[in-house]
This record gives sequence, structure tokens and C-alpha cells, in this order.
Amino acid sequence: MSHRSFRRFALRAAFAASLSLGLLLPVAQAGAQTVVGKWVAYSEKLDNGEANPFILTLKDDGDNKVSGTLEGLGFSIDVKGTVSGSHFELANPWEKDDKPFLVGDAANGELHFKFWSPEERVGKPFTPADAIKLPEYIAPPAIHPVPYNGLAKTPPMGWNSWNKYQGKITDAIVRQMADVMVSSGMRDAGYVYLNIDDTWEGERDSNGVLQPNHKFPDMKALADYVHSKGLKFGIYSSPGPRTCGGYPGSYGHEEIDAKTWAGWGIDFVKYDWCSAAKIYKDSDLQAMYQKMGAALQASGRKIVYSLCEYGMGDVGKWGPSVGGNMWRTTGDISDEWKSMEKNGFGQNDWAQYAAPGHWNDPDMLEIGNGHMTADEYRTHMSLWAILASPLLAGNDLTAMTPETKSILLNKEVIAIDQDALGKQGTRLSQNVDKNGGIDIWTRPLAGGGMAVGVFNRGGAEAKVSLKASDLKLSGNPKARDLWAHKDVAFKGGAYEASVPMHGVLLLKVGAK
Ligand code: GLA
Repeated sequence: MSHRSFRRFALRAAFAASLSLGLLLPVAQAGAQTVVGKWVAYSEKLDNGEANPFILTLKDDGDNKVSGTLEGLGFSIDVKGTVSGSHFELANPWEKDDKPFLVGDAANGELHFKFWSPEERVGKPFTPADAIKLPEYIAPPAIHPVPYNGLAKTPPMGWNSWNKYQGKITDAIVRQMADVMVSSGMRDAGYVYLNIDDTWEGERDSNGVLQPNHKFPDMKALADYVHSKGLKFGIYSSPGPRTCGGYPGSYGHEEIDAKTWAGWGIDFVKYDWCSAAKIYKDSDLQAMYQKMGAALQASGRKIVYSLCEYGMGDVGKWGPSVGGNMWRTTGDISDEWKSMEKNGFGQNDWAQYAAPGHWNDPDMLEIGNGHMTADEYRTHMSLWAILASPLLAGNDLTAMTPETKSILLNKEVIAIDQDALGKQGTRLSQNVDKNGGIDIWTRPLAGGGMAVGVFNRGGAEAKVSLKASDLKLSGNPKARDLWAHKDVAFKGGAYEASVPMHGVLLLKVGAK
């Protein structure tokens, strides 16, 4: 028996001993005691063949409450929750709604639980051999400005693999999406970036070049294919040693990765903080994003640079000076009203930072993924357009219903998003409580008009009266309904309409 497996055996034995003690003394083993400790659950192997451990560490906070951390290769988050008998439910305090995301039961000295996927994970007592090793510390560079790359004069538009495919994205699917982006009219409507998200990564070769895994046999050939369709090609990495999904990140390999991508013909890089949080402080965000920004500029290729740091670290203040073209202002979106509502309607304070070349990113689109109503998806599209947000579709483009197409391909709404003035919209007035209500946003447009979004966040259809004077306009301004595709009339200085539950009235007002 090796030293390592002996330790594992010894720990297991110690755990088993404490369990049998528990059987003798059931009172001492009640509630939290069944789950406190350090556990490791191995998930399916990564696509590059590496093992994928999740480490759950829990301490007893009394009163059947527990708290601790959940660590994967690419992340570490705080958790807290409750235990009832052998059942436990944990939430991440970062998520405001406190909804448990990790739920399971203790049985036979193991924890059986699920989080983020239907896969059941089995937690066994942790041994030192299970520890996630971090590479040697590399100090962040001194701060210096990275010049603007001249790209993204309007918010980038395209498609990204994450929302629909997550770890299931392959070369074949990317090619299919490229074909459909052309045949569906998406490309001609402006959606030109075709971006692979996490899980493409393999391992570094002896020269330190990160190779793709078996799902992407030839990245250069794939880039050539995407380019042959008149599209641009995007990829994903992290300033940390691991991406959020646990794959190799660019830590310590920034220059070589940027050069590799430039050689493949990459046009867009999403750079996701993930495991960098295990090594660096929030105050290092700027320096580490600058490091890749500088590497991209030195690569000799013009590459859109998308920062993914979940709205941390005052990114709006320094995003442009690291060469960033867009930066995340929120946590991850999911295909549900509450998530989209939280991300989209929380953007007012970010508006000051948006300008041509530099955009706030409340995360990618969920339109067409099936868990919101058509009215909710129209709200999603309208709000993102008013916010001058990047429009990165995240649905299966081969299976779009006519309704999904009518939303993603609404040229009048896309024109609002892409307006040349590049000014992000802001909230005009809000009459919203926890049950919803009416939220009105306006966005000034090139040529003097404005987009007005009257959003009904309530649970029932609402009658609204939009007054020209509230928009600081006089008389009856010209107006066009961008979902009905028709000119409409203000009468007596107001426009009356009813707006469905979770729906929107989107007008272009006052333009010649
Ligand atoms: C983070 C990002 C997501 C996606 C995943 C991939 O959660 O915010 O947009 O890129 O990582 O692992």
C-alpha cells in the first residue's frame, strides 16, 4: 500500500470509526454532524481526460446550520445552508435569492448531492491526494494603458455556444451554426461573431502551446470554415490556471496563447476570471486583464476583447484602458424571467461607461431557449437594445421557431442596439415594487430621436399612458412601434397602449 493510499485508507477508517460511534450515540450524530467535514466528489472526466474533483468543506454553525466552501478546479465559492436529519441544502450567499443550488443526503459515510446539473455526485472523505494544486504565484504587471484596438464601434453581435451547449459544443456544431447563421439571415442582420465558449481546451504541448481537445480536431481549419461564410470566429480563456469549467487557462501563458489564437485566425476573445480568484485579489483585476489585453495587441491580429468578471472591481472605470471592448456587469444569466430581469433592469448605474468601442455586457441572450414567454423574450431583446448591450444569441439556430426569428431578427430593434451615437439608455421612471410594475427607459439616438421602452414587470396586462412631456418633447411627436412595425400616433400629447404581463412597448420617438 503506497503512502498516499494508506493515508486515504487511514482517513476512511477514521471516518468509519466515527460513524459506528455515531450509531452508538445517535444524539451526537444528529443534524449538521452528518455533513460537516471535507468531502471530495469526482465528476465525469474533462474532455481533455483530466480528473474533475469538487471539494465541499462544511463546518457546523449550530442550530442545524452549516457553512463552508465548494471548490472545483476553476472556482471556489462560499456556501451556507441547513441540515435536517441526513438531508442538506446549500445556497451560495453571492446569489441574492438564497435559493439552494446544492441539495443532497448523507448516507453510509458518503454525501450524495446534485448541483448545477442533473448528475448525482458522490462525496467521499477528502484526502490530501485530492487537493487541487495551484501553480507558483506570478506577480501581476505594473499598470500601463493598452491602446484602443479600433474595434466594436457598435456593440458586438453574434452567437456564443455556452447558453445552449455548455460542455457539449463540438467542431461539427460550430460548422452547423456557421451555415445557419448565413441561411437564417442572422449574419446579414449583423450577427457576425461565432464564438466558442469554455470546454474547447486540451493540454499544453511541449512548447507550451495549448492544443484543443478531441472535440476540436483542427482549430485553424474550423476558423477558415467560419471565415469562408463571411463570419468572424471567437474563443474563450481565463487569466487563471483553470477556466470556470476546470480546463487549462492562460495563466503564465498569456503571450503564447494570444499568438496561437492569432495564428488560428481568432477575431474575438472572452476572458473569464474564474480560478484567477484563487490566486489574485479583486484589486489585481485590472493588471491581469491588462496582461492579456497587451498580449492580444502584440499578437498582430485585431481581436475584440471581452472581459468576463461578473461586474467586479469597478470595471467600467478601467475596462477601456486594458484594451477591453466589453465587460460583464452581472453574474451569469439563465433562461428564466427572474434572471433576465435582474441582469437587465440592474444596468442604470453602468450607463455612464458605455461608448463606441467599449460596452457594458449584462450577459448573452437566452432568446429561443424555451423557458421564457415570447413577451419575455421581446423584453429581453428590447432591453438589451436600449442598453447598447452586445447581442450574442445563445440558442440552437437550427431549430428557431418563426417567433424566435421574429425577435432575434427584428431589424428595427437591432438598429436601436447598433445606433451610431453609442449612448446607453437609462431609466426614466420606475413604478415597480416586488410584484412588478411599469419601468420606463429611454435611449438617445443619432439624429435626435430616442428609443422608449415601456416595460411591464407586473403580473398582469397594464394600461399605460406615455406623455410626450415626460420625454421632454412637446405636442404629438412622431412615433413608431418597433414590434408592431408601424407608425403610431400620440394624441393630446400622450400615447395610450396596453402592455402584456412581462411584455414591452418599444417605440422610436421624435426622429425625423
Ligand atoms: C462563467 C461565465 C459564463 C461561461 C462559463 C463557462 O460562468 O460567466 O458566461 O463562460 O463560465 O465555464
